[in-house]
Amino acid sequence: VENGPPKAPAAYKEIISTLPSENGWKVFQQLCFYQCFWCFPLHLEGAMYARHHFKAQPTDVLLCSAPKTGTPWLKALSVAIVTRNSAADNANNLLLNKVPHECIMFLEKDFIKNPTDQERLLRLVATHLPYAALPKSILDAGCKIVYICRDPKDAFVSLWHFARGRSNFGPYWDHVLGYWKASQESPEKVLFMNYEDLLGDTINQVKRLAEFLGHPFSTEEEKQGAVEKVISLCSLENLSNLEINKTGKYGDAEKAIENTVYFRKGEVGDWKNYLTPEMGDQLDTIMEEKLSGSGFTF
Ligand code: A3P
Repeated sequence: VENGPPKAPAAYKEIISTLPSENGWKVFQQLCFYQCFWCFPLHLEGAMYARHHFKAQPTDVLLCSAPKTGTPWLKALSVAIVTRNSAADNANNLLLNKVPHECIMFLEKDFIKNPTDQERLLRLVATHLPYAALPKSILDAGCKIVYICRDPKDAFVSLWHFARGRSNFGPYWDHVLGYWKASQESPEKVLFMNYEDLLGDTINQVKRLAEFLGHPFSTEEEKQGAVEKVISLCSLENLSNLEINKTGKYGDAEKAIENTVYFRKGEVGDWKNYLTPEMGDQLDTIMEEKLSGSGFTF
């Protein structure tokens, strides 16, 4: 997203109105194509505003993901990890009373509404923006970044249940590649995680995340089962059965979405229940073509 002097939100709307747009599957807004990705105008306006106004602190940690790759899980785990030893046991309070999306500032959604709220309780910031569209101040401040990646076939099927349509913040391969390349260049700054590894080797992956976030589990904590405690607090089963996630909604009144939609199956390979093997192969081939020469494979 372009640099330049700060602009008033009206100026962003004007720029957005000139962009190529297409009907996303979601009905409430068209998707527009800006520089390198598809985005809902509302989020693009927030992204442009953040680009000019967000002042990152070196201690901010960005949680980045393409939609439908397990964002609520990454958010819940990170909140639980960084707050687990705080006196008020904020992890439990936060996650028991708010959908994970509401526990952390969503850069392109929340910042424009509340730009003065830079003294956040948690230094965690979430975004679906591609790496190339991150506010420059985040990179200049040297913030740490965690990225969660998922098999595109499962992300596709998950999106189909959620919204259906052109994938917002996509193309997916560009999204993944942007963060993957950054993680190769600066592994100490960008942690690249996979949904599949998180599901298959949860304990080690959660320890890896905790270490990266600067809140490693001590030997004593490990003996006392602190890792398992975080994992079970953040499990799909636990989160989806909380009252707030069964009955609550997330978002502004008329556009609010039921929290239940963020917690579906949480499986690897669910795509097989919806796509034929040929369709799966077709998607794999597209990904191979798009990723060829990059060194990255799913
Ligand atoms: P499925 O639709 O495949 O079940 P996002 O918010 O990025 O769109 O991610 C939603 C996906 O993450 C959904 O995938 C959802 O079930 C899964 N998910 C949400 N919370 C989870 C958790 N605590 N553990 C594992 N998966 C989770």
